[in-house]
Amino acid sequence: MLPRRFDNRFLRLAGSFLLLCAFVCALMTWRTRPARAGEDAAGQRAVYSQNVTAHYNMPFSGDLPFLPSNATTDTGQFLDPKSFPTAKYCGHCHQQAYAEWRQTAHANAFRNPWYVKNVNLLINEWGIEYTRHCEGCHNPIALTSGALTKGSPIDRHFDADGITCSTCHSIQKATTRGTGS
Ligand code: HEC
Ligand code: HEC
Ligand code: HEC
Repeated sequence: MLPRRFDNRFLRLAGSFLLLCAFVCALMTWRTRPARAGEDAAGQRAVYSQNVTAHYNMPFSGDLPFLPSNATTDTGQFLDPKSFPTAKYCGHCHQQAYAEWRQTAHANAFRNPWYVKNVNLLINEWGIEYTRHCEGCHNPIALTSGALTKGSPIDRHFDADGITCSTCHSIQKATTRGTGS
């Protein structure tokens, strides 16, 4: 058993040390975060994601922005649609792959008139947020960019590509969590 006085002094000392650590850490984050944010890709992603979050409705969950689709991004953050090269870009070199892809259901997953009709019914009846369920499969960039929220200002040039080369070719993992995962 330690004498009581020593015990208290030790605790006070440890407490002050932890407080100091917390303060130094906070200072370091405060000093480095904004300076780096504009420079490295992770910082730019975070900034894009924060901007989208500011006007993004989340009726299904407070912290899982892509629900009810179980598709998600590597960090769970939104991705700037500019980070997905278009099929046309890939097609400059991969001409055969482009020609084959152009005829597939994947390439037309968002252009098909039956699809557009169906998804518009859903938007009118329930709101665009509900189409996250569909677009996790039909138009993944619409989902991951954060465009599927009422009044989104995001330019949706990616609609024309549907499931484009760079969506499939950037998949890192498939899970069995559920729809779109
Ligand atoms: C500037 C030309 C160019 C562009 C643009 C380009 N690629 Fe490639 N790609 C290549 C070359 C060259 C190879 C290597 C081919 C080889 O080894 O047979 C390659 C390889 C690949 C491979 C691996 C092929 C294999 O057999 O393993 C894939 C997959 C691929 N590219 C997909 C894409 C996608 C998706 C895009 C668009 C986001 C793209 N590429 C854009 C030139 C290009
Ligand atoms: C799990 C992935 C997934 C989800 C989620 C999904 N779809 Fe689909 N959808 C597909 C696939 C794959 C096909 C193509 C099936 C085929 O060709 O046999 C398809 C086909 C369709 C078609 C027929 C298109 C055609 O060319 O005939 C319509 C319409 C459609 N989906 C609407 C929707 C709507 C509306 C939602 C959301 C309520 C939705 N889908 C959700 C994967 C999905
Ligand atoms: C639906 C998902 C999907 C889409 C969309 C897609 N790919 Fe692929 N791609 C694959 C898979 C999976 C393979 C591997 C196929 C295999 O190993 O047999 C592949 C293979 C390739 C290869 C390797 C060489 C070959 O021909 O087998 C190239 C190059 C390629 N894709 C380019 C493209 C380009 C360019 C586009 C868009 C125009 C595209 N892909 C769209 C899934 C996709």
